Amino acid sequence: MKNKLSVVIAGGGSTYTPEIILMLLDNLDRLPLRKIKLYDNDEARQNKVAKACEILIKEKDPTIEYVATTDPEEAYTDVDFCLAHIRVGQLPMRELDEKIPLKYGCVGQETCGPGGIAYGMRSIGGVIENIDYMEKYSPHCWMLNYSNPASIVAEATRRLRPNSRVINICDMPIGMEHGIADIVGVSSRKDLDIRYYGLNHFGWYTSIKDQTGKELLPALIEHMKQYGFINGEEGMATENKDSWFETNLFAKHLVAVEPTTIPNTYLKYYLYPDYVVEHTDPNYTRANEVIDGRETEVFSACAEIEKNGHSKGTSLEIGIHAEFIVDLATALAFNTQERMLIIVENKGAIKNFPDDAMVEIPCIVGKDGYEPLAMGEIPTFQKGLMEQQVAVEKLVVEAWIEQSYQKLWQALTLSQTVPSATVAKQLLDDLMEANKQYWPELY
Ligand code: NAD
Ligand code: G6P
Ligand code: MN
Repeated sequence: MKNKLSVVIAGGGSTYTPEIILMLLDNLDRLPLRKIKLYDNDEARQNKVAKACEILIKEKDPTIEYVATTDPEEAYTDVDFCLAHIRVGQLPMRELDEKIPLKYGCVGQETCGPGGIAYGMRSIGGVIENIDYMEKYSPHCWMLNYSNPASIVAEATRRLRPNSRVINICDMPIGMEHGIADIVGVSSRKDLDIRYYGLNHFGWYTSIKDQTGKELLPALIEHMKQYGFINGEEGMATENKDSWFETNLFAKHLVAVEPTTIPNTYLKYYLYPDYVVEHTDPNYTRANEVIDGRETEVFSACAEIEKNGHSKGTSLEIGIHAEFIVDLATALAFNTQERMLIIVENKGAIKNFPDDAMVEIPCIVGKDGYEPLAMGEIPTFQKGLMEQQVAVEKLVVEAWIEQSYQKLWQALTLSQTVPSATVAKQLLDDLMEANKQYWPELY
């Protein structure tokens, strides 16, 4: 019999928490649990989902202990895994990350460009605080961290907590691989052997093989040249199309620039920032879509469960994108040696790239952690883009550590999404004012 495990979800009040709980409950045969805890530093927000989560757990397996708490000691004592998805400043600050850059004609996005930089400056402290609680109360625990912006957060953990048991990971490749499997007609993403390299939200698939070893990349590239990253949803009713639909459709323009690989769709923000800005409503961004959509739906579904005392008929669904969390925890707990894309220190995996860059590459995961696979040399176009972006991310982390206005100005200036040092400075002053409650003071 497998040992039963104890997990804490940090950022318990997240809109993703109920679907992650459902996903954990659906996978108890792979990842048996004896305890599930929610931890947040905002009790009122966590309470919007906490009671519903308790009901979901009791319905599935009443022997699983459950606690929702804002006390770090209670949260982090006796836990094997911390699933961390915090958002420092919550969705109202995401809205500013998106809207402030748009005032200056720059991309306004959660993790890319000036918005991602501003968010990074908020996230670092929150993630480090949670790592420190984990190490204090459960030193053997692993943190599976998917708090954004993952690249900047990963660089911060490398610099500030290099020996901590933290694995930085993103669901985007999983989401893309579901889409890829669908387009190439393979029933499960797990039947694909993929190669991918890059930074988080900034990378390329270089090989996608089926179980017979057949290379599917050329066919997929042809599909993407024509339809982008969508498959038959072209005629979908307009009211069902959110900004992700546009992003997936737009992927054809990414393949046009680099037609030998399959790009992460986030590259649109770096390769076509002018187009993105022209096609964004500066008064209604993705944060507004999320607040009016996912947040409203999840919180009202939870309120309904709480009122009824049961979950029958609920609209809440298992988060299939979140299956990477179970895969990763299972690999660490039970040594599955599964191959997964994670964000790790390069250390030679990409041969012609700095050792100390945090890159997203396939790794084999087992009970002692991860072992990166060698990716070999990468071409000039990708290397050039990645070097510039890594420098931005490193400068943000240095700015946070050194409380340096100068370095943050340099980071913004160097971003592919910002046209000049002049605009970078205006942006910095505006973002700094908006974030004064959250950023370290800069000198
Ligand atoms: P959200 O605002 O709904 O929830 C985040 C929660 O974190 C809030 O309840 C907030 O109070 C809490 N929080 C903030 N600071 C904290 C701290 N220091 N300690 C404990 N809790 C804290 O946000 P969301 O939209 O659900 O997203 C959550 C996070 O997950 C974001 O960082 C988002 O970017 C990230 N995300 C990552 C992936 C991925 O795969 N990489 C996918 C989806 C979301
Ligand atoms: C993907 C990315 C995440 C990001 C999320 C945003 O899942 O991998 O890093 O946070 O998209 O989605 P949203 O629906 O909040 O815009
Ligand atoms: Mn991500």
